[in-house]
Amino acid sequence: MAAFSQSEIDALGARAEAMVNELALISAEPDRLVRLFLSPEHRRAADQVAAWMREAGLEASEDALGTVRGRLEGQGKRLLIGSHIDTVIDAGKYDGPFGVIASILAAEHFDRAGTRLPLGIDVLAFGDEEGSRFPVTLSSSKACAGIFPTENLQLADRDGMTLAEALKAYGKSPDDIPRAAYKPGEAAAYVEVHIEQGPVLEVKNQPLGVVTAINGQAHLKIEFIGEAGHAGTVPMSMRRDALAGAAEAMLLGERLARESSGEVVATVGHIAVAPGATNVIPARVAVIFDIRSGSDTAHAALIEALRGGIQEIAERRQLRLTVTTPRQVGVTPCQPAIQDQLAEAIRALGAEPLRLGSGAGHDGQAMATLCPIGMLFVRCRGGISHNPLEYASPRDLGLAVAALIGFIERFDPKKLA
Ligand code: GLV
Ligand code: MN
Ligand code: MN
Repeated sequence: MAAFSQSEIDALGARAEAMVNELALISAEPDRLVRLFLSPEHRRAADQVAAWMREAGLEASEDALGTVRGRLEGQGKRLLIGSHIDTVIDAGKYDGPFGVIASILAAEHFDRAGTRLPLGIDVLAFGDEEGSRFPVTLSSSKACAGIFPTENLQLADRDGMTLAEALKAYGKSPDDIPRAAYKPGEAAAYVEVHIEQGPVLEVKNQPLGVVTAINGQAHLKIEFIGEAGHAGTVPMSMRRDALAGAAEAMLLGERLARESSGEVVATVGHIAVAPGATNVIPARVAVIFDIRSGSDTAHAALIEALRGGIQEIAERRQLRLTVTTPRQVGVTPCQPAIQDQLAEAIRALGAEPLRLGSGAGHDGQAMATLCPIGMLFVRCRGGISHNPLEYASPRDLGLAVAALIGFIERFDPKKLA
């Protein structure tokens, strides 16, 4: 087992931070970080990641959904490690990229040491974890897991470009998607390093944590359909205002989540209003509720209560509704033996492995359909994420890379049964 001195950990952290900063320069906008799936910025970031993989001694390739893969040869099954390189709009630098960088640095450690590992390693840099461009998420990890729904190819971004068209413009062929899938039994496990994106590790004064499960998530898309009219002439009692109905529904979602005693969170982060003019009563409004919970029961109960309440609001306001659920995924547990092996690696570095759930979604939700998964969390300042203020200290980054190396050394697929 490698034993790391503090100066070696600091050196790993300094390298990781420099690479995080370098990738953060690749953005669609000069003043904020925006790197959407299959955009020119995604291309540049993928090329940079592939170059780092080659420098680390990995064989780099790219699949039909743009996932960059760095392969370190080994016998038998493959251990998959990685994260994503797409971002939200006005993103922080660490969400996703750090997990890819930590994986490259860990793989490089084994390449340089000439260690003959009992299994091969694939470093994966997925391109669509955030779902910031198309109205779906995890397209790249779903392709790797062999569960990519081909009907999603027809979904369009806000400019009307379909996923199929965007893939072609990126130089990919949808015909190659089946080849992106790992074969059953080929992958021993998928393990991801990620910043926590919440405050638990900081409050408990611990640099690293072991994830027990990823919370369930639903996207409940509701379209409220009323009637357009003149903002100056239609009396208040005669209006069928779709936006007023949606506003009431959003407040209902907030109240139900507040009343769930912390079990469920509900958010509306984007609404579309038509026709969208100051002097026109809104006729059509589409909102997407993002609803998450660590309890499938509490999750389902809130969604049912919200749907019932929205029906009542629509009837009272004489609005028509269309209701769809473009995303619905239950709680995804992390494999207990992987949790224990991660905890051992953290303890070997002198830190206490705190166990915690993930409120954020991750590619592991798709990869769990292929193989057992595990996640290692890194403390981030103030728990702030999806925000340019996102920050993790170089020392914690270095510890996370060292813990990933220690985990790979300890990893025993035979113990996963
Ligand atoms: C991704 O970061 C998500 O949890 O939405
Ligand atoms: Mn992420
Ligand atoms: Mn994110």
